[in-house]
Amino acid sequence: MRSTGSPVQVQRSTIAFESDTCTARHVAPLCSQRSRTATGDSVSFAAMAGIVPDHIEQYALAHTTPVDGWMDALAEETRATLPAPGMLSGAVEGRLLEMLVFATGARRVLEFGTYSGYSALSMARALPPDGRIFTLEVDPKHAEFAQRHIEVSPYADRIEILLGPALESVERLDGPFDLVFIDADKENYARYYEAALAKLSPRGLIAVDNTLWSGAVLDPETDDASDSTRALAAFNDMVVADPRVVCVMLTIRDGVTLIRPRA
Ligand SMILES: C[S@@+](CC[C@H](N)C(=O)[O-])C[C@H]1O[C@@H](n2cnc3c(N)ncnc32)[C@H](O)[C@@H]1O
Repeated sequence: MRSTGSPVQVQRSTIAFESDTCTARHVAPLCSQRSRTATGDSVSFAAMAGIVPDHIEQYALAHTTPVDGWMDALAEETRATLPAPGMLSGAVEGRLLEMLVFATGARRVLEFGTYSGYSALSMARALPPDGRIFTLEVDPKHAEFAQRHIEVSPYADRIEILLGPALESVERLDGPFDLVFIDADKENYARYYEAALAKLSPRGLIAVDNTLWSGAVLDPETDDASDSTRALAAFNDMVVADPRVVCVMLTIRDGVTLIRPRA
């Protein structure tokens, strides 16, 4: 047990998902899972619990506008058939992303990390009919799963998946983007951030997922800190010191940082 500074203590060993590649060193607070793509590349994923105690997370969910049944079905099928379902953003963060699209009036959205398509479809809910989301995914299985669900959704004409390493795909895309959601491999976050900033519209917003990493970013120097933990801790330090931007770190789910260019 470890105090979060709030009246509630978080059971750090509670994790939503453990892969069979987890070792004892990785069990708490998060576990890193590796998977191979069709090209043989090894990709690391997060399989972690959020930082918000489960009963509070449930309360927040109960007081968030419910999503359509087909989004619940997507989430169900993700949990039943895809590895590392802890990567799914879920209804509360999905509604947050949708609100960001709505509030910014975003028309062009860029996403790093599609997984099963849940966050892309969440953002699509608030896009105008001529809006577009480009979502970048390296794993063909994830891209195929997401594509199948996007095609039967009301937003098939608004979402395009680009298959391949995100840093290569983003090179092929012209900006500007009004909203960028960074949620792929954590070791590349700083590169995704630079690519996003370069293509961001003047009033654009970058949202970055997992910036609290189950709290592990507070202790990045421990011997068992993963590469993802170190990368995220360095990323957070870099962003808050970056004179080009203004940022706020939200304690939603596993931490979501919102970043805008400094005027
Ligand atoms: C955390 S999941 C994304 C979850 C999704 N945004 C959601 O909220 O439902 C991360 C995804 O990034 C993908 N990914 C990892 N490394 C990548 C890379 N180098 N290029 C593109 N996608 C990558 C993984 O295959 C995985 O599907």
